[in-house]
Amino acid sequence: MHSTILVTGATGTVGREVVIQLSIIDDVRVRAGVHSIIKGENLKRLPDVEVVEMDFKNRDSLHAAFTHVDKVFLITPFSDDQVAMAKTLIDEAKAAGVKHIVKLSVIKADAAPETMIGRWHREVEKYIEDSGIAYTFLRPSSFMQNFANYDAASIKNDGRFYHSTGSGRVSYIDVRDIAAVAVEALTGSGHEGKTYELTGPEALSNQEAADIIGEATGRQVAFVDVPEEAARNSMLQQHMPEWMVNAMLELEQGYKQNRFSETTDIVEQLAGRPPHSFRQFAQDYRECFI
Ligand SMILES: NC(=O)c1ccc[n+]([C@@H]2O[C@H](COP(=O)([O-])OP(=O)(O)OC[C@H]3O[C@@H](n4cnc5c(N)ncnc54)[C@H](OP(=O)(O)O)[C@@H]3O)[C@@H](O)[C@H]2O)c1
Repeated sequence: MHSTILVTGATGTVGREVVIQLSIIDDVRVRAGVHSIIKGENLKRLPDVEVVEMDFKNRDSLHAAFTHVDKVFLITPFSDDQVAMAKTLIDEAKAAGVKHIVKLSVIKADAAPETMIGRWHREVEKYIEDSGIAYTFLRPSSFMQNFANYDAASIKNDGRFYHSTGSGRVSYIDVRDIAAVAVEALTGSGHEGKTYELTGPEALSNQEAADIIGEATGRQVAFVDVPEEAARNSMLQQHMPEWMVNAMLELEQGYKQNRFSETTDIVEQLAGRPPHSFRQFAQDYRECFI
């Protein structure tokens, strides 16, 4: 029997990869929930993928997206109203009779309540638990793709990138592995009520990441460790909202103190293969950095 799976945030870093990987699974119809139909245009070319527009801030816009949906992969953006957006989506899922929500959360959402991001995700997880809908929580570590999305321009332009993480190590994960686990959680059995902490195979410092990107690109890449105050000023000068600056600095402090350096073997268990190494990521994304 066919099942229909709605992926929210489907044009984003994780959502796009989940849609691509779900599109090749038999007996699954994928509904890609996009903020803008134009951005979602190329998802329409994938087999068995239907693209629907939805605005998380407007409940009236959600009804069509949730109609006849069996399961949802729930992604909300890194935004200061992401809790409200997620709650609106969960209310709509409940009203539509959705049977299972797989939520993209964050590593240590319950064990690191000192970070704003952790608190926000945990609040949404609790709302899902209380909704009575079956759930699976995916709690990934920091994405390898952040280097391609946020550091690539500076690596390209002057061969360096800047953070205030010192020599702290992070167990970066490739979003292709998050997507593989999401596909298993959505289409396999026995994942209801489970929480999966997802990491890459090893923890790396930003200097080690810089060296690996340098090897992959054949250019020297430097990591510059920036004092926290200088990082704050620089982000504010770039017109980043204050809540976001605080959230980023909290995370970077956690990275510096090795609080996000543990690794787990969940990707291998659920995807049936080892997670991508940072070296493989750097090879596959080398064009972004040159
Ligand atoms: N980055 C990390 O290292 C990391 C690690 C762990 C967990 N996370 C979590 O991952 C989540 C973000 O995932 P991501 O990186 O895949 O996100 P992303 O690339 O920023 O994409 C967000 C998606 O949400 C859509 N969107 C934004 N506002 C919307 C609205 N009002 N209505 C409908 N759609 C809207 C965006 O579409 P438009 O672009 O068209 O607006 C986009 O498709 C966050 O919850 C974050 O806390 C991130």
